[in-house]
Amino acid sequence: MAADDVNIRSATAEDVPSMIALERECPTAAHWTEQHYRSLFVARASKLESLVLIAEETADAPKSPGAPTMLGFLVAQRVDYEWELQNIVVAQSARRKGLGKRLLEGLLDQAAQTNGAVFLEVRESNTAARNLYEKAGFELSGRRKSYYVDPSEDAVVYRHSLG
Ligand SMILES: CC(C)(COP(=O)(O)OP(=O)(O)OC[C@H]1O[C@@H](n2cnc3c(N)ncnc32)[C@H](O)[C@@H]1OP(=O)(O)O)[C@@H](O)C(=O)NCCC(=O)NCCS
Repeated sequence: MAADDVNIRSATAEDVPSMIALERECPTAAHWTEQHYRSLFVARASKLESLVLIAEETADAPKSPGAPTMLGFLVAQRVDYEWELQNIVVAQSARRKGLGKRLLEGLLDQAAQTNGAVFLEVRESNTAARNLYEKAGFELSGRRKSYYVDPSEDAVVYRHSLG
C-alpha cells in the first residue's frame, strides 16, 4: 500500500460498523458501544464539536484479497477552544506507513483554525502511540495514577498548543 493509495476523509454514521470492527481488533484502542459511536454524528450545541476522520484505500488502489477498505480512524471532540483526541486506530496490516500521522495532522489542522489546544491521555506502556504523539509535537503535561483498568495502569497526559 502506497501513501497515494490512501485518502483521509470525514466520517459519516454509515462508517460506524467498520469503525467498530477495526476498534475491536485493537486491544489498546478505546472501546465504545455502538450507541456512543452513533452519538458522534448527532448535531451538538455550538460549543461542542466532533471530528471523525477515516483513512481508507482509494477506489483505484490495487487491492489485496481480504484487505479492509477502512484502514484507520480518529475521533476527537472540541469543547470551546480545547480539543481532546479520544481514539485513533490504524489496522494492523496498515501500520508504520504514516496513516496515524496523517490522521493526527488532520486534527491538528482543524485545531489550528480555532487557535486551540489539543490534549489526550494514553496508557503509559503504549509506546507506538506515545512516539506518534511526541513526533507530532505533543508535550507531556501530566499523569493520572491508575487511570486505566484491566490491566491497571497510569495514564500519561499530553498537550499540544496551537496558534
Ligand atoms: C498508534 C497507532 C495509531 C500508530 O499508527 P501508525 O499508522 O502505525 O503510525 P505512523 O506510521 O503514522 O507512525 C508515526 C510515528 O509513530 C511512531 N510509531 C508508530 N508505531 C510505532 C511502533 N510500533 N513502535 C514505535 N514507534 C512507533 C514512530 O515514531 C513513527 O514514525 P516512523 O515510522 O517514521 O518511525 C497504531 O499503532 C494503532 O492503531 N495502535 C492501536 C490503537 C492505539 O493504541 N491507539 C492509541 C490509543 S487510543
